[in-house]
Amino acid sequence: MSMIVFRYLHFLGMAFWIGSAVGVTIAAAAPTQRESGIAQSLRKVTLRVTTPSMLVAFAGGFGMLIPNFTEIYAKAGWMHAKLTLLILLAGATGVLTGKLRRWAQGEEVKAKTFGRLAWVMGILGVLIVTFAVFKPFA
Ligand code: HEM
Repeated sequence: MSMIVFRYLHFLGMAFWIGSAVGVTIAAAAPTQRESGIAQSLRKVTLRVTTPSMLVAFAGGFGMLIPNFTEIYAKAGWMHAKLTLLILLAGATGVLTGKLRRWAQGEEVKAKTFGRLAWVMGILGVLIVTFAVFKPFA
């Protein structure tokens, strides 16, 4: 296998492995007086891990993007595709935090909604790493 395929597997594995492991660990450690239910525990994960990690990813991404935009990325089709998918991923993350907030407040949220969101965000994550590593339509 060529180096780029190893690089691709490396990024994909790291993103999903560490992200899910840290999230599940925090949810498992959550039952306290303030986080007494599953909805409260999962909401804690989004507030402590998901949203801050998204902001750190954005800060790093824009730190690379902005200084090199006209030189490199304005003409890079893969970056435009990646940024479009990122907007969708950030939107899906917003839907997740919103649904969890409502669930934690006692409103009914269908389990199917979370199942669908998991697929949407997982597929978007795979596509984003695919564009970032293989850089198609360069
Ligand atoms: C607004 C958010 C983001 C912006 C502005 C952004 C922008 C960038 C830029 C400018 C690069 C350097 C590309 C290059 O010339 O090699 C990069 C690399 C990369 N990005 Fe992002 N990114 C963002 C979020 C993400 C997210 C959420 C993921 C993963 C799900 C991701 C995955 C990657 C990967 C794997 C690379 C490394 C590619 C390589 O070196 O082979 N990015 N990003």
